[in-house]
Amino acid sequence: MGEVLANAGAGRHRVLERAGWNVEEDGLTGAPPIAVVVGDEAHVTIHVSLQMLGLGRNRVHRVAADEQGRMRADALRETLAGLEGPVLVSAQSGNVNTGAFDPLPEIVDTVRALPNAWLHVDGAFGLWAAATPSFRHLVAGVADADSWTTDAHKWLNVPYDSGIAIVRDAAAHHAAMTLGAAYYVETQGGERDPYNWVAESSRRARGFPIYAALRELGRDGLAAMIDRCCALARRMADGLRDAPGVTILNDVVLNQVLVRFEPPGGGDAAATDAFTREVIAAIQADGTCWLGGTTWHGMAAMRISVSNWSTTEADADLSVAAIRRCRDVVASGVAV
Ligand SMILES: Cc1ncc(COP(=O)(O)O)c(C=O)c1O
Repeated sequence: MGEVLANAGAGRHRVLERAGWNVEEDGLTGAPPIAVVVGDEAHVTIHVSLQMLGLGRNRVHRVAADEQGRMRADALRETLAGLEGPVLVSAQSGNVNTGAFDPLPEIVDTVRALPNAWLHVDGAFGLWAAATPSFRHLVAGVADADSWTTDAHKWLNVPYDSGIAIVRDAAAHHAAMTLGAAYYVETQGGERDPYNWVAESSRRARGFPIYAALRELGRDGLAAMIDRCCALARRMADGLRDAPGVTILNDVVLNQVLVRFEPPGGGDAAATDAFTREVIAAIQADGTCWLGGTTWHGMAAMRISVSNWSTTEADADLSVAAIRRCRDVVASGVAV
């Protein structure tokens, strides 16, 4: 989450600086108000970062999302049309439930038409789609954003906590995060002192495992890993689609699958929620694989997220068989 803080801090610095205000020196009291605009499906860490930066969770303008969780570009246009002054916009590549991507080309055009705006893209796991030619189209437009976040502890499979902030405007990033203590010996030349770019002054060298993983995988290895995980997600969705009472709730565009289980003989929303949760509990107790539950647009759902480098087709097939078996066991205990 620290990476989101760095990006939002850089954006806050730049839009206020353009409005004639130095937020690092003078704080937010009396500063020109910043409008913050996020998609309705923004990850909770975006809201927490706003809370920590004094921009407030409740002051956010939430833009409606579509049925896959993508920010609606028309709704963004409407929201921005009513705003004045400095604006921070946060879009998303890779919804935590559906894997869906906000329509960045339209979002970029809309945000770039404003005189003083910063566009951030939360690509915690979706930004990795850019690493493979088969999924790169999903992040079209991302190169025109001001900042990105992504997590190496997700798809790169390195240890927690390896969040990455990428900011085009290095001066804004530095201004927002720099320590500048008199007793620190600053490096000269092109090297960077990490404490001047992140929210912590003391931290271990998280870059090493990231560098090692990238060197080991190489460009092709990374692309193959992303492709493989996404293919396995599709394989699991296909393996479950025809099971009794199963609905795949999302378009499987990345590595995420949302599954809902209707009880035998059908049932209302509450009964289907309860049955879905029972199936999830049964799978977790079974132990073949681990799958979490979520709530998607008011519906309980099972969340499949394939992101481990070592997962094979055989693992996916075993997992599908286990899910189907658990569903049957739970169904056998439900009066029809
Ligand atoms: C879309 C999205 N944004 C942000 C985050 C937060 O990432 P971190 O693990 O760096 O706190 C997540 C984590 O699941 C996520 O899925």
